[in-house]
Amino acid sequence: MNATLPTAEALRATLAGLLDGLPPKQAAQAVDRLIANYRGTTPTDAPVLRDRSDVAAYAAYRMPATFEAVRSALAALREAAPDWAPATHTDIGGGTGAASWAVAGAWEGPRTTVLDWAEPALALGRELAGLSGIPALTAAEWRRARIGAGLELAPTDLITVSYVLKELTADVRAALVDTAAAAAQAVVVVEPGTPDGYARIIEARDRLIAAGLSVAAPCPHSEACPIEPGTDWCHFSARVSRSSLHRQVKGGSLPYEDEKFSYVVATRFLAQPVGARVIRKPQIRKGQVLLDLCTRDEALRRATVTKRHGELYRAARDVAWGDEWPPGGNA
Ligand SMILES: C[S@@+](CC[C@H](N)C(=O)[O-])C[C@H]1O[C@@H](n2cnc3c(N)ncnc32)[C@H](O)[C@@H]1O
Repeated sequence: MNATLPTAEALRATLAGLLDGLPPKQAAQAVDRLIANYRGTTPTDAPVLRDRSDVAAYAAYRMPATFEAVRSALAALREAAPDWAPATHTDIGGGTGAASWAVAGAWEGPRTTVLDWAEPALALGRELAGLSGIPALTAAEWRRARIGAGLELAPTDLITVSYVLKELTADVRAALVDTAAAAAQAVVVVEPGTPDGYARIIEARDRLIAAGLSVAAPCPHSEACPIEPGTDWCHFSARVSRSSLHRQVKGGSLPYEDEKFSYVVATRFLAQPVGARVIRKPQIRKGQVLLDLCTRDEALRRATVTKRHGELYRAARDVAWGDEWPPGGNA
């Protein structure tokens, strides 16, 4: 996990440096336009990120958050497969490269290729990567590609698809997941932590399993998700520190925000999913901690850990939403 910290700081510093030149008013207007566009009926037939100010706004407004969400998903993959490291990585719909930054922080030196149809996003991504001084990023290849019927992917170790499925039609989404499953040893899909983001993750999860991959995270198994459709949605939260520039562009004064996301990681190789994972914010009460868990053997269950549990109680007070329970396994 620590290996990723310098990347988070480098991303903040690089974004601040790059966006310094952008007048705050112009940045705020570009963010407003971006939000309006994203509120419109997606998917669209043409890129939403049309020019440099759109892309700069996206980078300032969203990139720190999508980076943190992918970073959490990759941490879960690393926990499930500590001995595995990708030599090659393809970031599909990679935009300005948030997922590629997260990958560069998680492993040393995978060769990254970023694919996107928006040339301005690729250009800014390339520029940010060049400024980072991080070898895996400066060496990354940024290539224009349209996700659609004609998408061909070269075999690769790792594929990331971060905050992209929402922008695609159902047919294209399904074809993309199938193509990714056929090309990669590990596929990481991340979406907003909303009911419809979760629905797209479940759809992707089903397709990845049908293609012969196994779920490495967040689920403890590759069986059907135990959440009854429409009653709840599995999602997690990543804390995003906000730079002054980020605060200026997004408004508000808090030094952080919490990005809610849903994800699935599936692998062709043997990984070790957790026995149980905390799927809601733990509730700390007087003398007890309530943990909502998704477990390998008992599906969804609530564990009440009290002071009488001693060591386990202390662990429960420290455990976070999204973590394995108990720490180190043996649920
Ligand atoms: C919300 S952004 C996410 C960017 C990046 N993956 C991240 O996590 O920050 C969605 C990206 O998908 C790209 N995209 C959407 N539809 C696409 C398509 N049909 N072909 C290629 N790229 C597409 C957009 O240009 C944009 O860069």
